[in-house]
Amino acid sequence: MFMEFNISEFEIFIINRYAASELAGSILLGKMARKVTNHSLIVNLTRHCMEEARHAFVWYDIIKKLKIPIIEIHDVKGENYFFHVNETKDIFEFLAFTHIFEQRVPFHFSIHAKWTKSPHIKEVLEKLIPEEEPHLAWIKAYLEKEIERGNTKVKDVLERFAKLEKDLYYEDLEKLEKTGGEAADYARTIKEHTKEFEDNPKWWQK
Ligand SMILES: [Fe+2]
Ligand SMILES: [Fe+2]
Repeated sequence: MFMEFNISEFEIFIINRYAASELAGSILLGKMARKVTNHSLIVNLTRHCMEEARHAFVWYDIIKKLKIPIIEIHDVKGENYFFHVNETKDIFEFLAFTHIFEQRVPFHFSIHAKWTKSPHIKEVLEKLIPEEEPHLAWIKAYLEKEIERGNTKVKDVLERFAKLEKDLYYEDLEKLEKTGGEAADYARTIKEHTKEFEDNPKWWQK
């Protein structure tokens, strides 16, 4: 356990990974905002970039306050979902890619919030869960409109990235289980609940 805060070495790693991933997401969204010329798209992407940067800030702020050590998180080729952003060919693919990642976040955070022994971490997780809603909503609306316009590719791209995200997520859980100790306990707790997420039909499948 880390100091008096009930945070294990494993949870320190997970929290550092969240912070790094919020920042990575923000940078990707900001880069995309610089490539588009449509008014509402540039506003939405810039807001989304700002929101993810703020989330990274919320994590790093609690990391600093609790004196949690900073761990360098490196994107591992193939293992990291964000690494696959290079496979997106246009704005629709990029938004579908982002949307798929964000869809699991509220579910994942809610399980972590139940699992953690730290009231500080629980508080942050519970604060961030509802903040994903507007992120999911604007991209869903944008993609829905594109589907209505007759772009048949959108659903396929959503399915493709959903499969990729799911595979990587479960690979990570397997790896954590094999690590044993706290990591295995965390992975098992998530696994006990995954049905709740997977059995819920996604909006584009309805
Ligand atoms: Fe976020
Ligand atoms: Fe988000």
